[in-house]
Amino acid sequence: MQGPYSVTERLKPTSAHMLRATDLLKSGSLVAFPTETVYGLGADARNGRAVAEIYAAKGRPSFNPLIVHVANSDAAQIYGVWNETAQRLADTFWPGPLSMVLPLRADAGLSELVTAGLNSVALRVPAGKVAQELMQRFEGPIAAPSANPSGRISPTTAAHVLAGLDGKISAVLDGGACSVGLESTIIGLTGAPTLLRAGGVAREDIEHVLGTSLKSAQSGEITAPGQIASHYAPKARVRLNASRWELGEKTLGFGPMECDLNLSETGDLVEAAASLFGCLHKLDEMTGTQIAVAPIPKSGLGAAINDRLNRAAAPR
Ligand code: TXA
Ligand code: MG
Repeated sequence: MQGPYSVTERLKPTSAHMLRATDLLKSGSLVAFPTETVYGLGADARNGRAVAEIYAAKGRPSFNPLIVHVANSDAAQIYGVWNETAQRLADTFWPGPLSMVLPLRADAGLSELVTAGLNSVALRVPAGKVAQELMQRFEGPIAAPSANPSGRISPTTAAHVLAGLDGKISAVLDGGACSVGLESTIIGLTGAPTLLRAGGVAREDIEHVLGTSLKSAQSGEITAPGQIASHYAPKARVRLNASRWELGEKTLGFGPMECDLNLSETGDLVEAAASLFGCLHKLDEMTGTQIAVAPIPKSGLGAAINDRLNRAAAPR
């Protein structure tokens, strides 16, 4: 179990400190770092526990999918299914404040918590010098939402990051103030090009490059800023807060108990968050029409886990 950290390391973009930041990321710790848009709260996007720690540190009440940061468009193609539109946008806007949502490659190897169980992934190549150097050194995908507690203003300096997250993350890399100061524009490319979030690149500039107008996200497709509704839902019915299993149910436990799959035998909420989407997928592949889930505490990451389970159980 990581954190809460008593001390958040203050790092500067020197060689020695960049190495330290890279090592922390490799060991599954959280490092806030500057991009040209806002400071991101970075974790290894392949490490489910590390990604779960992002939600814990931010106190996020639900699991929104996160943007995966990579060094260049070659690296982006390891995770997303590439197409001509993506190539054109990458040629023009990367590195820069544009994120693209692409179909997730089957062999991407990302934590399911990063994509919130969706079969798509948001990818971005940030332009900031420090972000670029960090990604060159890390040589892997970095999941990074803005480095602020949930519901608070996005940070554009290291001091902003510390004001919200001091003691809750391993380190902050201080690269000065962000030049754009506004999150990236998000374009959905799983169908017709769609503007999912306005941001650092103007809609008109993207439309100019593509030679067509962008669709606007359907109301209902995005339920709140940055929050999408179309999360993966299991095919089976879902029964929550089960105090005992019924005959024929596929069972998802928490804490020491008999069950088909267990979110965390030791009752660790970080481990439970990291395994949630994978467990739901596995249960859906097993025969049976109903999934029963043991009660999950509502504190800490339990709030987001319960939020996700409530959506999975909602009538549809
Ligand atoms: O400028 C930025 O984009 C900053 C800096 C740190 O790079 N990052 C940022 O990340 O804002 P984040 O993780 O907070 O943005 C997540 C949003 C989600 O709430 C959702 O709107 C969208 O990106 N998103 C991520 N994955 C998606 C997906 N597969 N489908 C649709 N939307 C997705
Ligand atoms: Mg944010």
